[in-house]
Amino acid sequence: MKHEKIEKNVGLLGVLTAIAISVGGLVEIVPLYFTGQVTQPAPGVQPYTALQLEGRDVYIREGCYNCHSQMIRPLRAETERYGHYSLAGESVYDHPFQFGSKRTGPDLARVGGRYSDEWHRVHLIDPRDVVPESNMPGYPWLAENAVDASRTAAKMSALRAVGVPYTDEQIAAAAAEVEGRTEMDALIAYLQGLGTASKTWKK
Ligand code: HEC
Repeated sequence: MKHEKIEKNVGLLGVLTAIAISVGGLVEIVPLYFTGQVTQPAPGVQPYTALQLEGRDVYIREGCYNCHSQMIRPLRAETERYGHYSLAGESVYDHPFQFGSKRTGPDLARVGGRYSDEWHRVHLIDPRDVVPESNMPGYPWLAENAVDASRTAAKMSALRAVGVPYTDEQIAAAAAEVEGRTEMDALIAYLQGLGTASKTWKK
């Protein structure tokens, strides 16, 4: 029998398995490149402002993703706690996306607007001032570090090259928008924008 021949020949089995997995992978992955749901922004999703973009870079530099995901799964326990499950169209302007896979702390995909800016400021300097049992580290230096305004426009141009629709005016205004702001201001602006578009969607 042909099947027996394949099962008894490791080399042949390996090659045919690789082919089967490759075809299966392509069938699953390639259509995603052409599906509007995945390539177009979800309703209300806007590119990050210059300040939010700088905040996102602080989020990445400080490794917040090591403890926080930004990916709400379509399960009742998740949507009851966090809100609408995450849509692919929410990440179209995220390069790279911050889905994460570790939840030492809560998911942050819908944290925008949940707390005041002042709460975030206190929490980021020393989380235990507002959540006594917290084991999140403090990030007090963010309140002292100024955002490097000289690089913001270049970052936005680079993102435009990969499809984020920033206008020339937005790029020209970027340095002025972040000038004199701290990394703390930027990170809070980023956090406060997370998931705000989803508030207008139906459950
Ligand atoms: C070592 C793990 C760890 C790291 C790293 C970490 N966090 Fe947290 N975070 C937690 C835990 C645990 C909580 C829950 C307790 C609390 O609110 O402090 C939390 C809570 C939060 C909350 C409140 C979420 C909510 O819905 O109540 C925010 C916002 C937050 N973290 C932002 C950040 C940011 C921004 C960074 C990076 C600068 C960061 N975290 C880094 C563990 C972490």
